Amino acid sequence: MQSLTHRRRRGAPSAVDMEERSLIDEGDTILNKKAVYEPSNSQRCRQLVCSRSWAVTILIVMGLFLVLIAIIASFARPQTLPCTPLNTVTEAVTTPTPKAPTYIATNGKEFPWKDIRLPKSIIPESYNILMHPNISQSTFKGRVIIKVRATAPADFVVFHIKELNITHFDVTSLKDGEPIHTMEYLEYKESQQFYIKLGRSLEVDEEAEVTVKFEALLVNKLVGFYKSSYTTSSGEKRDIATTHFEPTDARAAFPCFDEPELKANFTLNIVRDKQHISLFNMPLKKTEQYENTGLLLDYYDTSVKMSTYLVAFVVCDFANISKTTSDGVKVSVYAPRELISQAHFALDGAVSVLEYYNSFFGVKYPLPKQDLIAIPDFAAGAMENWGLITYRMTAILYDPKVSSLGNKQWVATVVAHELAHQWFGNLVTMEWWDDLWLNEGFASYVEYIGADQINPDFHMHDQFVTEDLLSAMYLDSMSNSHPIHVPVDNPDEINEIFDRISYSKGGSVLRMLRNILGQSKFKAGLTHYLTIHKYNNAHTDDLWSALQDANPNLHVDIKAVMDTWTKQMGYPVVTVKQTGTLLSLTQGRFLLNAAHTNDAVPSSDYKYKWYIPLTLVTSADNETHQLTWMNMSSAETTVPPNIKWIKANSGMNGFYRVNYDTANWQHLIKQLMDNHKVFTAADRAGLIDDAFNLARAGLVSQKIALDLTLYLEKEVEYVPWKAALDNLAYIEDRIIYKEVFTSFKAYMLKLISNRLAALQWTDSGSHLEMFLQSNILSWAVKLGHQPSIDKGKQLFKQWVQDHASISPDLKNVVYMTGVKYGTEEDWKACWKVYEETNVPSEKQKMLVAMSYSTDTRLLNQYLGFSLNKSKVRSQDTERVITSIAANPSGQLLAWRFVQQNWDIFSDRYKEGSFGMSHLIKGVASHFSTQFDYDEVHNFFATRDAGSGTRAVKQSLEKIQMNIDWLEKNEGEVTDWLNQHSS
Ligand code: BES
Ligand code: ZN
Repeated sequence: MQSLTHRRRRGAPSAVDMEERSLIDEGDTILNKKAVYEPSNSQRCRQLVCSRSWAVTILIVMGLFLVLIAIIASFARPQTLPCTPLNTVTEAVTTPTPKAPTYIATNGKEFPWKDIRLPKSIIPESYNILMHPNISQSTFKGRVIIKVRATAPADFVVFHIKELNITHFDVTSLKDGEPIHTMEYLEYKESQQFYIKLGRSLEVDEEAEVTVKFEALLVNKLVGFYKSSYTTSSGEKRDIATTHFEPTDARAAFPCFDEPELKANFTLNIVRDKQHISLFNMPLKKTEQYENTGLLLDYYDTSVKMSTYLVAFVVCDFANISKTTSDGVKVSVYAPRELISQAHFALDGAVSVLEYYNSFFGVKYPLPKQDLIAIPDFAAGAMENWGLITYRMTAILYDPKVSSLGNKQWVATVVAHELAHQWFGNLVTMEWWDDLWLNEGFASYVEYIGADQINPDFHMHDQFVTEDLLSAMYLDSMSNSHPIHVPVDNPDEINEIFDRISYSKGGSVLRMLRNILGQSKFKAGLTHYLTIHKYNNAHTDDLWSALQDANPNLHVDIKAVMDTWTKQMGYPVVTVKQTGTLLSLTQGRFLLNAAHTNDAVPSSDYKYKWYIPLTLVTSADNETHQLTWMNMSSAETTVPPNIKWIKANSGMNGFYRVNYDTANWQHLIKQLMDNHKVFTAADRAGLIDDAFNLARAGLVSQKIALDLTLYLEKEVEYVPWKAALDNLAYIEDRIIYKEVFTSFKAYMLKLISNRLAALQWTDSGSHLEMFLQSNILSWAVKLGHQPSIDKGKQLFKQWVQDHASISPDLKNVVYMTGVKYGTEEDWKACWKVYEETNVPSEKQKMLVAMSYSTDTRLLNQYLGFSLNKSKVRSQDTERVITSIAANPSGQLLAWRFVQQNWDIFSDRYKEGSFGMSHLIKGVASHFSTQFDYDEVHNFFATRDAGSGTRAVKQSLEKIQMNIDWLEKNEGEVTDWLNQHSS
């Protein structure tokens, strides 16, 4: 079932997917994924420059070699494939092997450059781009003049294009201004590359201009240069043109050297209609008439040196509001005129965060302006284009009268996240996508600091534990996880790592390091890193050495410690055993389903051992956090005599779990019952989450985990409740169709009864109290608590019939109740609001609410709407389907719908972004039977899931874990629930 509360990452979370955080809006999405690294098939032949005859010889030899390999392979292959049982993770899934590259260009000739990475012999220095979109005709044409420089003698140039039709190109030397004869050109679509053979070699350091003219379609596809639209209140449809380039779609807008390390200066001139404005990363310089066409040509200032994926331009008819920071940076928010009144919160937040980051990072934001713009059709939540950040509507617009605190926090978080990238990502960029975590991990940690700055009442730092740490730990305890640093080659693989590991584990290990070093040393290191690498690129090691060098007296070898966290997947469980005053500490890799993991797990250079900063508090003194380093090994420490309990990983600052002997668990349970406040909220959440996960892994009994929840009757804080409810929802999902579900419901209602009595449908309370109220009420309603259902239905009815307003923070639960326990008319009332409201967060709430219906006909119809672009924007398709899949009444319908329409999805999502993996995990991972496992397995065995390949493996692993959970735990959990239900 879906929780209605404020997941900061997208929506529709069920505990099954609690690791998933989406990259989409309102406090409920999921950034999902991933899995084991598999070496790419694309061959890496890093040739630099070679003479023609050599090239021919090499080609012939390679050709012969390939033929030979094929012959050997055909003889060596066993005639019948060994039969492996279907249900082992070992075998995971037999996704079709990607096709070996053919290197046949579009004209049938052999493509000479055989590497997915570009040669570095001729590199770009600047781009002068002329863009001419024709929005009504859905086309654009353009011309780019790329100034390049040879770093080695080279007689060919290779750059990227994607779905562009090249109409002209020429090359001119800047040494003598003479044209350079071009002998041959070839396009190889598989690598999205264009090759031009020059009549002569460029000398080292010789500069040249490559001019290319091109044409393409401007369609609504959410990547590259694309068309988006919105409708005004008078029903007029307005089209705009906008861009989204990260990671590899700048090449779909203009020919370019589309790799993050090939930074250059960009200048844009763009043609537009009179009724439009245009925007670029930099400020507008001047506007002129465009060739007597009645059109205008906007000229922009040249950008700082930056990567192609950060370039952005928009043509639209939006209004804007602006303010200037204390450092003189002009900050503006752009949105459709009728929505601009919802932009004030984002504008004020952006100004305050920008000012704060200037001092926090110790390096000034270098551009004269920062625009934030709401884009009606947008795949992700937001994109950090330098100086022109693009947002999904729900991630930037906030109407205090209509939107909830969850929506508000989401806007603050996304604003803080994207602004953090202006330093981490834009100023200093990862050299290649294998270090993506340097961008996303950083922004995922720093966004908490920024959002806290916007409003300390959000208690962002408390929320880190449940929103990022625990969900990253969940994903990373699967055998199909992957290390933070992961080799990637092609666009699918690159898209795949925009996941919880890069984001949340990345953020969590930085937070751990920040706590090892302390704030001032950490900040000094960051400032040093940004200063020495600005306008340049960096590797993970550069970060470690900057932190080390900025703190010469440090006794910690940062690289040695951090390598164990970033270069191997997974994380440790520390087992604490007490003998008198002596504690023995041992470490081992934590896996949720060790029984099914076995040989498939790749070996690790660090042998799955970590440098662990093991902190602990005891009943004797819970203020002093004792630190013991476990240096890829066991360790010992002492505690005062006669203590009652030990709690390790205090503050949940470390990325590890802790197990204790049974006696200590029992003392912890007793302490929680007697006075839970001796532990911080983060520690309470951590104890609960550790216990449930250790139980799932078979390392403690289910009884211990369940006993830990008994104290919750007295718990009033959101963070521990959130951890508990996510874990209890996992159990709920497993037993929902079993007899014991009655006992589960009774136990849950007992647990939440005090909160229910206290939090009665009001809109007063602190930020986290409101989160808790919404969560508890949603549980009450889904558990069938009649007074709550009646109240929800009553408020819903007043809203439908008398247009009575609902407190923004109760909307989720009221809409859910109205739809779940309502009629077709009620569903239609939501659909009407969905279509008519001009508040994006409200539209979003409707979209999710409608998925709660138990009427399968309505759900089926809604699934159909999700693919109808005139009803549901394609940015929201995945959300509708995964929300329906999280509803027990819709689970099978959604899975069937995805299978039936697979070709449409695979076409839509081949462009990347998170869509594919979210969709797969959303519909395929809730199952708990062997039959369903086989069905999912068989479906994907013959299909290429593209950027969702790892999501398939992880979904299968999850189903397997669900099956095993029932097999191992159903009896014990049933007994416990039956005993505690009254
Ligand atoms: N750089 C990403 C946007 C992105 C995501 C580009 C995936 C390409 C593929 C951006 O900084 C981001 O992470 N946005 C998040 C919001 C954030 C608060 C987690 C998103 O889009 O949800
Ligand atoms: Zn980001």
